Amino acid sequence: MKKSQATASNKIIFSLSLILSTITFSTQAAEIQGNPEKGASKVRLCVGCHAIPGYRSSVPEIYTVPMIGGQSSGYIVSALQAYKKGERKHPTMRSVSGSLSDQDMADIAEYYALQTASTTPNKLK
Ligand code: HEC
Repeated sequence: MKKSQATASNKIIFSLSLILSTITFSTQAAEIQGNPEKGASKVRLCVGCHAIPGYRSSVPEIYTVPMIGGQSSGYIVSALQAYKKGERKHPTMRSVSGSLSDQDMADIAEYYALQTASTTPNKLK
């Protein structure tokens, strides 16, 4: 095989593997679809802090807990991922998010995204 032919086939192999990895990546992303009904049964961990307007928690220090009901699901997932990776630093949220799988995060995020100020009183908000 001539050198130029070898380079050309390397390029083809490279492009093919790029295409394949893109396909694999997009199927993985498509698999993780949040389900708000499943999310509703997974927020028990969260409602002690996030369900209460103006709530402050005192562990590990006194801090205000943000409202997450009605937040966009994409924002919630990326916040949870950031706590899990340690990019966002908060001891409680880091340990809470560490126990969640990608699927749990997606389900919970879809659940919270549907909880708005006008949602019928729902103690899991
Ligand atoms: C012990 C109280 C506590 C529990 C339990 C808790 N959180 Fe949090 N959460 C907080 C506090 C405090 C913050 C703000 C942390 C900071 O300053 O980064 C926060 C931040 C967040 C944020 C980012 C909000 C924003 O506006 O950026 C999300 C999303 C979140 N929590 C989701 C959850 C979910 C989902 C659960 C349950 C799986 C949960 N939290 C459980 C106290 C709690």
